[in-house]
Amino acid sequence: MIREARDGDWPAIWPIVRDVVTEQRTFAYDPALTEGDARRMWLVAPPARVVVALDGDRVTGTANMYANRPGPGSHVASGSLMVAKEARGTGVGRALTTDLIGWARRSGFAAIQFNAVVDVNVAAVRLYESLGFVTLGTAPGAFRHPDEGDVGLRIMWLDLR
Ligand SMILES: CC(C)(COP(=O)(O)OP(=O)(O)OC[C@H]1O[C@@H](n2cnc3c(N)ncnc32)[C@H](O)[C@@H]1OP(=O)(O)O)[C@@H](O)C(=O)NCCC(=O)NCCS
Repeated sequence: MIREARDGDWPAIWPIVRDVVTEQRTFAYDPALTEGDARRMWLVAPPARVVVALDGDRVTGTANMYANRPGPGSHVASGSLMVAKEARGTGVGRALTTDLIGWARRSGFAAIQFNAVVDVNVAAVRLYESLGFVTLGTAPGAFRHPDEGDVGLRIMWLDLR
């Protein structure tokens, strides 16, 4: 089940964000990000939106979604999603991405752009491609992966018009 995040969800969201940020495998965030900065970054204010995925009462994932750019870029949506380590591969990421696409359609966005998908993040790339996203281009070596060295960052795009 996916629902909008509430104030009281943050203690369950933070360990998921902390794991992803410290892993340094999928997002180019500062690994020293504090909890306060993470909270300010992740809990975007309306009309942007934050959701959690639930398995019973347990938060298994989270996503945020927003206009990719202000002003002349605000008709294109973007977002980020993170699934708890122990819940990966069980359909949570698909549910979150499907929810994000639905929100972007309902909100009248023309497209969704993911700005920096790590080329070797096979789970993310396959998930997005299975939902219709295409890769517009790849910034070569733009992400310093702990095991794979310098790998590309893809811009991935889903047209909603
Ligand atoms: C990437 C991520 C969001 C995917 O979510 P998930 O819940 O693990 O994925 P799902 O179980 O919903 O699987 C959806 C699809 O992803 C692909 N996939 C998932 N795990 C995979 C893996 N280990 N290897 C290859 N493909 C995989 C499959 O195509 C799968 O489709 P299927 O259900 O038809 O098999 C999740 O692994 C995650 O949060 N990773 C860390 C943070 C991150 O990478 N966020 C996205 C940054 S762009």
